[in-house]
Amino acid sequence: MTKMVAAIFGSNISGGNTDKLLKEAIRGVEDAGCTVERIDIARHPVASCMQTFGCMTEPRCAIEDGFEKYFNILKKADGVIMASPVMTYGIPGALKSFIDRCQPFYMAKYYRQQPLIKPDHAKIRRMLFICIGGMDKDDIFTGPVLTAKAFSDIIDAKYADELLQNDMDRIGNIEKKPEVLAAAYEKGFALGKRIVDEREK
Ligand SMILES: Cc1cc2nc3c(=O)[nH]c(=O)nc-3n(C[C@H](O)[C@H](O)[C@H](O)COP(=O)(O)O)c2cc1C
Repeated sequence: MTKMVAAIFGSNISGGNTDKLLKEAIRGVEDAGCTVERIDIARHPVASCMQTFGCMTEPRCAIEDGFEKYFNILKKADGVIMASPVMTYGIPGALKSFIDRCQPFYMAKYYRQQPLIKPDHAKIRRMLFICIGGMDKDDIFTGPVLTAKAFSDIIDAKYADELLQNDMDRIGNIEKKPEVLAAAYEKGFALGKRIVDEREK
């Protein structure tokens, strides 16, 4: 019974707009009664997947570079928030490498049919995706959302909600959009509350 949410931060700008939105979502999660373990992946990057396929037979990644502690947080979590800027119509490289390293979840679930997340736990796990982009275009979130949905499926955390804000190059500071910051808080709170309700029923 963890009531813990893993918060994965994909930008390398501490105090930037992605960070501000993630902090609001975390505040919501904590107000709802959950704890949060934040993973600042750009500050502590992991190597890319080397396709040695050790995870076809073992429930872990063969590369020893500190990834395992993040992997264990993800396994334990009752919820996940992933917050990322759009970069070149996708997500930043460090975050993508982190996601690719989660292939042991995929192999366990789809190749060996022995999911790392037990069915009772999978029923609870939800993911909130926060993503911002500079351009005032509708299609900038297509790639990031597809990646986030694939990730949520692989780690058995249902893609439950998203907060997508484009046009950041013009807006500049997200604090000019208090309604978006409020939405981050509310979505974080809803994620946390659902976990508390599930765990206490
Ligand atoms: C290398 C790089 C590539 C980017 N590519 C895109 C892009 O393809 N589409 C877009 O809308 N914004 C793009 N952006 C803009 C960022 O998404 C935007 O500046 C965002 O607000 C950064 O958030 P942060 O300061 O919280 O990291 C890019 C920024 C960088 C640095």
